[in-house]
Amino acid sequence: MSLTSYIRTIPDYPQKGVQFRDITTLLHHPAGLKSAIDQLVEHYRDKKIDRIAVIESRGFLLGAPLAYLMGTGLVLIRKKGKLPAATIGEDYDMEYGTSTIEVHTDAISPGDQILLIDDLIATGGTAEAAIKLIRKCGGEVVECAFLVDLPELGGNERLQKIGCPAFALCAFE
Ligand code: PRP
Ligand code: HPA
Repeated sequence: MSLTSYIRTIPDYPQKGVQFRDITTLLHHPAGLKSAIDQLVEHYRDKKIDRIAVIESRGFLLGAPLAYLMGTGLVLIRKKGKLPAATIGEDYDMEYGTSTIEVHTDAISPGDQILLIDDLIATGGTAEAAIKLIRKCGGEVVECAFLVDLPELGGNERLQKIGCPAFALCAFE
């Protein structure tokens, strides 16, 4: 079964005009969750990755099992005000609002090869901000991986423009 068939679409959430791709139905389904994680492990098995950076909150759900299976550490990229030690932050716009993400200043060492994980790329604003944060810390983003791409919102092109390869397990055209 394709991964898109595990994901349901909620019209007009969180605001009118947005077709919200809801991954909770994939997460509920043992075969859906297993297939997503297995495909990521397969894709990254032979790449040199020091740490997996995960974007709050749904990125955590995919990145944590992936890091466990790949034997890497995790770097949490969280919404403003959630991390307890010294942080650096980056503001960004997304499909339906603006926000700020932060990372601990000591979470990434210069030269670390980082795989960035989130559940979904829409406009790419969140991922671009996360890449900027990782680069400010001296990390190198090997690739960004997503469960879902929404190509009509242009996120993939946006990441290409800043020199970051992107990979998605499925897309809603
Ligand atoms: C969603 C999604 C991505 C981001 C994608 O997160 O999980 O992180 O939006 O949008 P973009 O490509 O236009 O930036 P959200 O901020 O809704 O947070 P959540 O995971 O905590 O629900
Ligand atoms: N689904 C889930 N998260 C999102 C979406 C969506 O369609 N668009 C932006 N973030």
